[in-house]
Amino acid sequence: MESKAQEAATAGLTTTKAPFIEGAKSRGELFISQPWEQYSEENHQSWRNLYARMADRWERYANHRFLEGLGSLGLNGERVPKLEEVNRFLAPLTGFKAKPVSGYVPAYLFFDCLGRREFPTTITIRDVATPDYLPEPDIFHDIAGHVPMHTDPAFAETLVRFGRAAAGAVERLVAEEPDDLEERVASNMRAMARFFWFTIEFGLMREAEGDGLKVYGSGLLSSYGEIEHSVDSPHAQRVPFQLEWVINQSFRIDRFQPLLFVVDSFDHLFDEVTRLEEWMRSGRLDHVAPCEPVISEEEIRISLEAARAKQ
Ligand SMILES: [Fe+2]
Repeated sequence: MESKAQEAATAGLTTTKAPFIEGAKSRGELFISQPWEQYSEENHQSWRNLYARMADRWERYANHRFLEGLGSLGLNGERVPKLEEVNRFLAPLTGFKAKPVSGYVPAYLFFDCLGRREFPTTITIRDVATPDYLPEPDIFHDIAGHVPMHTDPAFAETLVRFGRAAAGAVERLVAEEPDDLEERVASNMRAMARFFWFTIEFGLMREAEGDGLKVYGSGLLSSYGEIEHSVDSPHAQRVPFQLEWVINQSFRIDRFQPLLFVVDSFDHLFDEVTRLEEWMRSGRLDHVAPCEPVISEEEIRISLEAARAKQ
């Protein structure tokens, strides 16, 4: 009979089916290591399939900074990457590093990591049989979709500034202690999550010349079907980025996005993060429109606790 350790070592690191992750979660460990030797041959095959079919799509639809990032990270389509190796290339460029996590990272902790140039990274990979739909993030989304953008200094600064502003929103409210603290925290977190969703995850950018669009959002860059849909489909609305709209716009995570926001450049995106921060400081994010994403009481409790511990 196989021992527990052997069993864990051969079960692989497949999304929702990895004993290593279940063990970490049951011990309450959020930040973990990447036991690379545990990836099964099927896990590597899954990475290979995903990477191979994205290659042409990236060539056609991705922002050129993303394409350059793929090259400078030395990512390849053969094997699930080792985070250590990715970080060895990444850190000298922008100081960012991919930090392995066991699963969902509460919003405040996630934003706080960004502010410190750490990117919480899922280490499991989707099942080889289901390459398309996946409600959870996986290492393909996080490493092939997000991390190449982190090699670009302008984008990296935007992410840091955003992370600090988003974490700062909770810290500001903790310091002010208004009567409706929880409600305001939820509103600020909704606004921040919406900003992140419509830029970092699903952002489009106008090309410098002509009227073409390129993708810089990681949710699109890791989706074979949606990357094409976002640029070419007549069923998607593409509108110029408008901060007041974005922070009040709800979204659903279980379908191709019907509404996408277009920025002019990374400088433009940076300026919008600056405005977002000003709005946060002046209380303008304290009462944004309700609905998705729903911020749970648990999420608010964790955020308040973490922000108070920092005071
Ligand atoms: Fe993501």
